[in-house]
Amino acid sequence: MKFFIDTANLQEIEEGFQMGLVDGVTTNPSLMAKEGVSGTDKVKAHYKAICEIVGGLDVSAEVIATDYQGMIQEGEELAKLHAGIVVKVPMIAAGLKAIRYFSSKGIRTNCTLVFSVGQALLAAKAGATYVSPFVGRLDDISSDGMQLIADIRLVYDNYGFTTQILAASVRHPMHIVDCAKIGADVITAPLSAIKPLLNHPLTDAGLAKFLSDHKKASSN
Ligand code: E4P
Repeated sequence: MKFFIDTANLQEIEEGFQMGLVDGVTTNPSLMAKEGVSGTDKVKAHYKAICEIVGGLDVSAEVIATDYQGMIQEGEELAKLHAGIVVKVPMIAAGLKAIRYFSSKGIRTNCTLVFSVGQALLAAKAGATYVSPFVGRLDDISSDGMQLIADIRLVYDNYGFTTQILAASVRHPMHIVDCAKIGADVITAPLSAIKPLLNHPLTDAGLAKFLSDHKKASSN
């Protein structure tokens, strides 16, 4: 399972990349706004900076346009920025049409804001490279985000769709573990949700004991 980092913060991306934890990056307009990035030139420069930090890894850059022609123009400009750019397109009718167009041109896409199996099926049929079901936002409304990942896995496997399931809106380490059990292809999460996977009290206690036994033996 690939780990993408879900942030537009350059320091966080650099930290995750240096730790060897990052296989790609996802951003969205809210995450870009959080970093104070606005205006076409600054947005493009920021995407380029992200791409340069992570080398050739995939970086999802979301279109703002919601009409077909606008999405095509914006997506093509984004794709030209760097070979790692994946054009992120919302799950709306014009978005599906744009995904089909990008797919025919060899431009990779991430279909975002997916909340149902039906939507995921349409994204795959349109030729999306990635589909982003939002686990946390479903949990937020007392729905079962993880069940959606399992259902999409089943449907994609039934028909051999190659669209990768990119579990998004992943908020904590158990979301990641559950996605791995189900067989999501990718999770995207902030570093704060990924890092705790490292921790176990028995690891800390075991290491402390090994080191104290070693110290005792060395002083004999
Ligand atoms: C990433 O592709 C999504 O935009 C992101 O994971 C959404 O996360 P949130 O629901 O925590 O905002």
